[in-house]
Amino acid sequence: MMGASGIAEWIKEQIRIKKGKPIPAHVNFFYCFGGISLFLILLQLLSGVFMLFFYTPEPDKALLSIAYLSNEVPMGWLFRNMHRWTSTLLLATVFSHMVIVFYLKAYQSPRKLTWLSGVFQLLMVFLLVITGLILPWDWRSYWSFAIWMDYIGTWVLGGETLQAALLDTFTLNAAYFTHILAIPILLAAFLSFHFKMIRRYGISKPL
Ligand code: HEM
Repeated sequence: MMGASGIAEWIKEQIRIKKGKPIPAHVNFFYCFGGISLFLILLQLLSGVFMLFFYTPEPDKALLSIAYLSNEVPMGWLFRNMHRWTSTLLLATVFSHMVIVFYLKAYQSPRKLTWLSGVFQLLMVFLLVITGLILPWDWRSYWSFAIWMDYIGTWVLGGETLQAALLDTFTLNAAYFTHILAIPILLAAFLSFHFKMIRRYGISKPL
């Protein structure tokens, strides 16, 4: 019979077999913001998939479906609030990650493309927040959409054309599929590249 210490030994043995890359000694709390961002993205995926079962992307039903989710569905309020609060937190952690990586000069060769994929990821996170805000289709959604459209209209190069095209085609349904499908797929593609590069070149050393 194997005693408790024998079991612990056995587990340690198994873990040792699948050796990962060791964490360099200089890595500290400030190197955690990328990982924290990934964790928050996974939380968003979880609460988002839960809400998919209850949300209806139609202008006269969206808000009612969210009221039903928050007030009637068991734990619905929890998942909805998790999704809302985590979106803001995610913006903060991704932004902090970027500032820290900049400060550490980790954007230099050979990590230029890691940085560039990060820029796209930041853009994707922004777009997720903007399209997500539209989905409840309450007054806040209406006005945030109106303000973005006004702003896009001020762009010197093609602003008015883009504004007109979006006002013609960007329905609630379009915002919904952009939010739950198009942007997440793009983000997943960039993230998988981001992580491949990190595995290939390792975490940067302090200069
Ligand atoms: C969706 C958001 C993002 C996630 C989930 C993410 C995730 C990660 C993770 C887990 C790491 C390794 C550990 C670390 O240094 O924190 C990392 C490293 C890195 N990230 Fe990101 N990242 C994101 C956005 C960004 C952005 C916006 C930039 C810059 C514009 C960026 C540039 C980099 C660079 C240059 C490294 C290498 C750092 C080093 O080797 O020290 N990332 N990222």
